[in-house]
Amino acid sequence: SQESWLPTLKTDTPEEGYELAVKLARKAVGMTQPDESIRKKLRPVYANNADSLTLASQVVAINFQTVAAANDYWKE
Ligand code: HEM
Repeated sequence: SQESWLPTLKTDTPEEGYELAVKLARKAVGMTQPDESIRKKLRPVYANNADSLTLASQVVAINFQTVAAANDYWKE
């Protein structure tokens, strides 16, 4: 489906898989808070907070587990 924002979890490389994991995390934020002006207002808050950044990294890490599994850990 070419209209889908998430047509597949398959990626050619682990690095692309990691980028997809970031995309998934940001998509969730966009769906949770559709108002761009509010997201822009909150950006400097989380960008300057170590714990917020650690949590954002954790969400990406969880997504990366899913993406890696879907790609069979890019074996072979
Ligand atoms: C920018 C990741 C949560 C608002 C970014 C960028 C990344 C990122 C990688 C830089 C993109 C770039 O420079 O091209 C994440 C992750 C999150 C998260 C992984 C959580 C798991 C949030 C939340 C908000 C937010 C909670 C606000 C409610 C923004 C905005 C920008 C941004 C407005 C654009 C900043 C700009 O234009 O300079 N985010 N983010 N993000 N994020 Fe987040």
